[in-house]
Amino acid sequence: MTKMRLLRLWIVLGSVFMILLIIVYWDNVGTAHFYLHTSFSRPHPPGALPTTGKDEEREFVSDVDEFLDKLLSSSGRQNDPLRKKTEQPPLPGSSKPILGNMEENVRGYDWSTHDAKQNPDQEKLQAERRNMLREFCANSSLVFPTKNRSFDDIPNYELNHLIVDDRHGIIYCYVPKVACTNWKRVMIVLSESLLDQGIPYKDPLDIPREHVHNTSTHLTFNKFWRRYGKFSRHLMKIKLKKYTKFLFVRDPFVRLISAFRSKFELENDEFYRRFAVPMLKLYSNHTSLPTSVSEAFSAGLKVSFSDFIQYLLDPRTEKLAPFNEHWRQVYRLCHPCQIDYDFVGKLETLDEDAAQLLQLLKVDKQLHFPPSYRNRTASSWEEDWFAKIPLAWRQQLYKLYEADFVLFGYPKPENLLKD
Ligand SMILES: *[C@@H]1O[C@H](CO)[C@@H](O)[C@H](O)[C@H]1NC(C)=O
Ligand SMILES: *[C@@H]1O[C@H](CO)[C@@H](O)[C@H](O)[C@H]1NC(C)=O
Ligand SMILES: *[C@@H]1O[C@H](CO)[C@@H](O)[C@H](O)[C@H]1NC(C)=O
Ligand SMILES: *[C@@H]1O[C@H](CO)[C@@H](O)[C@H](O)[C@H]1NC(C)=O
Ligand SMILES: *[C@@H]1O[C@H](CO)[C@@H](O)[C@H](O)[C@H]1NC(C)=O
Repeated sequence: MTKMRLLRLWIVLGSVFMILLIIVYWDNVGTAHFYLHTSFSRPHPPGALPTTGKDEEREFVSDVDEFLDKLLSSSGRQNDPLRKKTEQPPLPGSSKPILGNMEENVRGYDWSTHDAKQNPDQEKLQAERRNMLREFCANSSLVFPTKNRSFDDIPNYELNHLIVDDRHGIIYCYVPKVACTNWKRVMIVLSESLLDQGIPYKDPLDIPREHVHNTSTHLTFNKFWRRYGKFSRHLMKIKLKKYTKFLFVRDPFVRLISAFRSKFELENDEFYRRFAVPMLKLYSNHTSLPTSVSEAFSAGLKVSFSDFIQYLLDPRTEKLAPFNEHWRQVYRLCHPCQIDYDFVGKLETLDEDAAQLLQLLKVDKQLHFPPSYRNRTASSWEEDWFAKIPLAWRQQLYKLYEADFVLFGYPKPENLLKD
């Protein structure tokens, strides 16, 4: 009697196991590769000690994650046209473990041979930036909205700045006005998410600007829901745990000047209609305004930097809609207290940081970061730009962006905040 029941149980378990095997096998045949599998299966280092029970357990857990990931990607695959664009079989040679030395140091992993040389000073700098972030995320004397919420409580639409490259296991949080065009180009080359006459782009600079900023070019976290449904958060967490996550930041006030210069000093019809017209009406007492930016410019109608600051400080602004991404705080774009970034780059040290990051990602042989461009807003201009802004406004503005200053180690600009 009990034997029969046991037998039946075994048959049921066996069938379930077979079904799962078939799903995985079918997936394997259908598309030839799994990303997590190829990028992250760990080779055992030569001469490794016999694994302890604890290691085996960890390995088992990560295999379960891997398995789940395969399962989820196979179920999402059939009805998903975007997928074809964003996930192709990896290049030969990319089956090496990709995460760099830093990831290993941080988490105690040892997946790779130590071939890439890292500059020790640069590594120290990164460790300091990461520690600074962690310290102030944990320090309750720094208070800002949404600081305490968990990753699960971040709505999907706020995850739209996290670009994922499954081929190399990289997540990039883009911050507008911080070299994001060129980093997006790098992500396109690495993930082969955009084709030029059927062939993926190899040189970041070949990619036209309008494609770079088209959101349909990138696989971002906010698209996971449509693709994986209720498994999407679980999958994001797996990727956040395993992938190398980076972002680039910049002095918050200088970023604002840069945003103002590019969106309001140059003719931009979209920003004119959406932002300049309301600002001119509210803060410069204009009643009727031309419909196009070129007409407005030739009539001498431009928003001033002071109008822009007033707009940022106006409580009505945020009530109407969240800050535009060009001036939204980095902590709201990238959630640095919910996501444990492995690399924090700064625009002020872009060239060194870019070189180090590409080496860390082990793609420095494959591509170079495009050289810095044009007439970049310099920190030394700050005093001139803020000269006409009333002191009380500057202090309020600092409060608004304080979290970005503190979390990313930018000193409080005392010279602007005191008489
Ligand atoms: C939190 O930050 C404040 C202000 O920077 C500092 O004085 C304090 O020592 C910090 N507390 C901890 C526990 O690190
Ligand atoms: C966040 O958590 C800290 C400590 O856990 C608490 O002191 C603080 O009041 C919380 N802040 C908010 C806005 O909930
Ligand atoms: C973005 O790309 C998609 C697909 O390539 C295209 O259909 C769409 O028109 C593009 N959007 C813009 C604003 O260029
Ligand atoms: C705005 O314009 C109205 C009439 O056009 C005028 O009465 C008012 O004084 C102006 N306000 C400012 C602050 O210039
Ligand atoms: C750079 O921009 C500043 C201010 O926008 C302008 O005064 C300067 O002439 C520009 N320099 C070049 C080389 O374009």
